[in-house]
Amino acid sequence: MARKLAVIGAGLMGSGIAQVAAQAGWDVVVRDVEEAALHRGVAAARASLERFVAKGKLAGADAEAALARIATTTDLADVGDAEMVVEAVFESLDVKREVFAALDRICRPDAVLASNTSAIPITQIAAFTGRPESVVGTHFFSPVPMMGLCELVRGFKTSDATLAAARDFAESVGKTCIVVNRDVAGFVTTRLVAVLANEAARLVESGVATAEDIDTACQLGFGHKMGPMRTMDLTGIDIMVHAANNIYGDTRDPKFAPPELLARMVSAGDLGRKTGKGFYSYESTA
Ligand SMILES: NC(=O)c1ccc[n+]([C@@H]2O[C@H](COP(=O)([O-])OP(=O)(O)OC[C@H]3O[C@@H](n4cnc5c(N)ncnc54)[C@H](O)[C@@H]3O)[C@@H](O)[C@H]2O)c1
Repeated sequence: MARKLAVIGAGLMGSGIAQVAAQAGWDVVVRDVEEAALHRGVAAARASLERFVAKGKLAGADAEAALARIATTTDLADVGDAEMVVEAVFESLDVKREVFAALDRICRPDAVLASNTSAIPITQIAAFTGRPESVVGTHFFSPVPMMGLCELVRGFKTSDATLAAARDFAESVGKTCIVVNRDVAGFVTTRLVAVLANEAARLVESGVATAEDIDTACQLGFGHKMGPMRTMDLTGIDIMVHAANNIYGDTRDPKFAPPELLARMVSAGDLGRKTGKGFYSYESTA
């Protein structure tokens, strides 16, 4: 019998995680609070699978079989028998509290409860349950079908068995894992990217260099595929500021405090690609 995965949240990350798991043979149930989000999530998975088929990287029949393994629901009770649960709802402690408290009530006792949070300490999320040893971070990257990394995050009480099961899941869907041994806010990857983004924005703010030149420096000097300014525009300036603020709030370490320029861009609505303007203009391509 196929193993059952439940994904909570059918947004960008949830649909990607559901897709790669279904491709790997898991029976997947995706739960969202909105039917419309479930439709969008499945449509996104279908579009991604079709791109793989068009490039000759996936057989059409395998794409169809993967889609057939994805079920959707708005009823949280339908995830109760999953052995692995990955939460990918909004990056809000309040929303995650509600989800994990409910999962604790309905999931089978041996289920692994994973969060895809990019910055919230797992120990905080685990404390919303009566089984913190079963809670772990599985931080996937966007777009999930393309990106090879899963950052596994150990909370204060995460058991070795839970960490091993999370690794087993991530590797089964084709990802390479790194382990974050203490769940410092932002883990490894979001801390690194927040510091780079903040410093890049400070260099622009203080007139030391242009956004274009900073991107060129990182691409040609360090071999980064994309510089920090274009990365911020793609991710969303608001998302970057939110993540950096989460880390700053937890650590009070000023290197994580977003500079004024980023805060003003958020207030002004210059959020990057999604609004047509960030460090670059996307009017013609938006
Ligand atoms: N977007 C990224 O690049 C990225 C990368 C790594 C990690 N993350 C993290 O993954 C998580 C999800 O991010 P996203 O970009 O997919 O968000 P998103 O906004 O695209 O999707 C969130 C989904 O959660 C649903 N939702 C809200 N409350 C819910 C509930 N109680 N039960 C079920 N579904 C609920 C929403 O309807 C929405 O469909 C966040 O914690 C985020 O920080 C995001």
